[in-house]
Amino acid sequence: MSAFVDFKDVVKRYRMGEVEITALDGVSFQVEQGEFAIVVGPSGAGKSTILNILGGMDSCDEGRVVVDGVEVSAFTQRQLTTYRRNDIGFVFQFYNLVQNLTALENVELASEICPHPLEAAAVLRGVGLTKRMNNFPAQLSGGEQQRVAIARALAKNPKLLLCDEPTGALDDRTGKTILKLLQDTCRKSGMTVVVITHNHALTAMGDRVIEVRDGRVAAMKRNARPASVESLEW
Ligand SMILES: Nc1ncnc2c1ncn2[C@@H]1O[C@H](COP(=O)(O)OP(=O)(O)OP(=O)(O)O)[C@@H](O)[C@H]1O
Ligand SMILES: [Mg+2]
Repeated sequence: MSAFVDFKDVVKRYRMGEVEITALDGVSFQVEQGEFAIVVGPSGAGKSTILNILGGMDSCDEGRVVVDGVEVSAFTQRQLTTYRRNDIGFVFQFYNLVQNLTALENVELASEICPHPLEAAAVLRGVGLTKRMNNFPAQLSGGEQQRVAIARALAKNPKLLLCDEPTGALDDRTGKTILKLLQDTCRKSGMTVVVITHNHALTAMGDRVIEVRDGRVAAMKRNARPASVESLEW
């Protein structure tokens, strides 16, 4: 039986005119259900490419990607669309909220199209935004906007929560509260969470750390005792 997330010998090439870049050069790793996994590595290592393939936003050229027993790498475009909509929650560095919708409407917009959504207002309360639901994104701080983005992803009740540099645009203190929210969500709801970072100081808080370098997995390790966010220094 394979792991909840199983990347096996994944190769991804990008062609730009005459030039071909091998973004992923045989990437293999696993993540178990309910784990808080951290993908770490320098700029250009292939982190976003891994997350995009895992979330069905991009496809691989070789290898196999299995999520929850289903081979995502064999999906048609139509199957990928359904997979992205129903099974995946995404959180990005720059929030990607709809500017002319309130926080509540942003979350409802995402959850409405899903088969098993959570109640939008309840999820917003859960991320600490009880009093900000009717604000527009421009009326919220960066940290609050990222909370809306996390609520939007969680309200879909996805199998996998994928976060690409979720604290990249935030100051250190706000970044820590966002990471704590993600770690707490993982612990309380049992959701499988994958977070990309280039900050090595964060790796201590992961149940699993996947280190990527030059399109390959340089190391994968499990933390028997993951650290709390409060104890991290950077
Ligand atoms: N759409 C694309 N077309 C062409 N090349 C691409 C594309 N996306 C990524 N690449 C290349 O693939 C490699 C891996 O990129 P990727 O975005 O996965 O890196 P990353 O680890 O996320 O970096 P960063 O920390 O800067 O976000 C890089 O060399 C990048 O230039
Ligand atoms: Mg990236």
